[in-house]
Amino acid sequence: MNAEPNYLNANLKFSPNAIPSGKLAWRSPSNIALVKYWGKKSVQIPQNPSISFTLSKSFSETEVSYSPAVSGKSEVEFYFDGKRNLLFEEKTAGFFDGLSSIFPFVNQLKFEIHSKNTFPHSAGIASSASGMSVLAMVLCDMERQLFGTLQEEADFRRKASYIARLGSGSASRSVFGGLVIWGEAEDVSGTSDYYGFPVNEGVHEMFADYQDTILLVDAGEKKVSSSLGHGLMNGNPFAADRFHQAHGNLTALLQAMRSGDTEAFIRISESEALTLHAMMMTSQPYFLLMKPNTLQIIERIFAFREKTGLPVSFTLDAGPNVHMLFPTTIKEDVKRFIDNDLLSFLSPKGYIEDEVGKGPEKIL
Ligand code: PMV
Repeated sequence: MNAEPNYLNANLKFSPNAIPSGKLAWRSPSNIALVKYWGKKSVQIPQNPSISFTLSKSFSETEVSYSPAVSGKSEVEFYFDGKRNLLFEEKTAGFFDGLSSIFPFVNQLKFEIHSKNTFPHSAGIASSASGMSVLAMVLCDMERQLFGTLQEEADFRRKASYIARLGSGSASRSVFGGLVIWGEAEDVSGTSDYYGFPVNEGVHEMFADYQDTILLVDAGEKKVSSSLGHGLMNGNPFAADRFHQAHGNLTALLQAMRSGDTEAFIRISESEALTLHAMMMTSQPYFLLMKPNTLQIIERIFAFREKTGLPVSFTLDAGPNVHMLFPTTIKEDVKRFIDNDLLSFLSPKGYIEDEVGKGPEKIL
């Protein structure tokens, strides 16, 4: 078990007459889990390890201006897509309040935050993963610039992942590029319940730029928040078996990705997606997050794979959209398949052609 890093640090505070002003900006991507995190213990500790691909084109871009607070506690003004957003403001203020013993300087500052996503938010594309990881990057970058700490890149990323996790569990994985595990996996040393850990070494090269085309079945608001969903696992009669299963699936999936076994990759990742939805269907109250068109698409993916022998598969997040996963080498075949057979099942927003990406980027 990797011990929890101790990030409590009363020294990260400005002297009252030297509170700075400044501006910085980061871009941070969403990620798509292959073995799912669904169910947590206290303080954002997962019930099982999860593994995801960090995406490239689905990201949040967030610019943060800071200046001395007038009230003596942190003040947040949040603009989303250019408009003041009170819901995000309240969430971010709550997040910052919770971090006051890790980053005491947040209480001394007023933050003006301007954020936008390249994808529809709350549509089952993990907007909390990009949104929370981008804030974590910003806070750790402020610490690095203003206090001179976190100079080692590995320390910087680890702390950013720890902080991102406190905002949203899956966000801990977005801090790194490629394939990332969050949660202690028995046979992968370096993994932790407290932060994400990239596991790209030794993985078959085809996965380095694997494609994820996100088919937007319903780009509206999702009906069940993930915190409600995680909570429902506490009473789910299959929970213990599910948590146990995830450990085995993670080991087998990583093995398949190392050897380039696409058949096993497909079998395990599709089963994980259906299990996530099965957990929601067997909770009390129960939720159906797929739409009829979600199933139409899945059945067509099965038929296409059967007919062509091409390694196209799907995964799902906690919503109705379908993530189609496939190697770059068959991109043209898949595009033709989508345009010919799937467009009628999509919302007017269509689809997003994403792929595995390198992780957050500093833009200012
Ligand atoms: O990070 P949260 O609390 O929004 O939970 C994310 C849960 C899933 O997206 C459904 C699965 C996962 O591992 O990302």
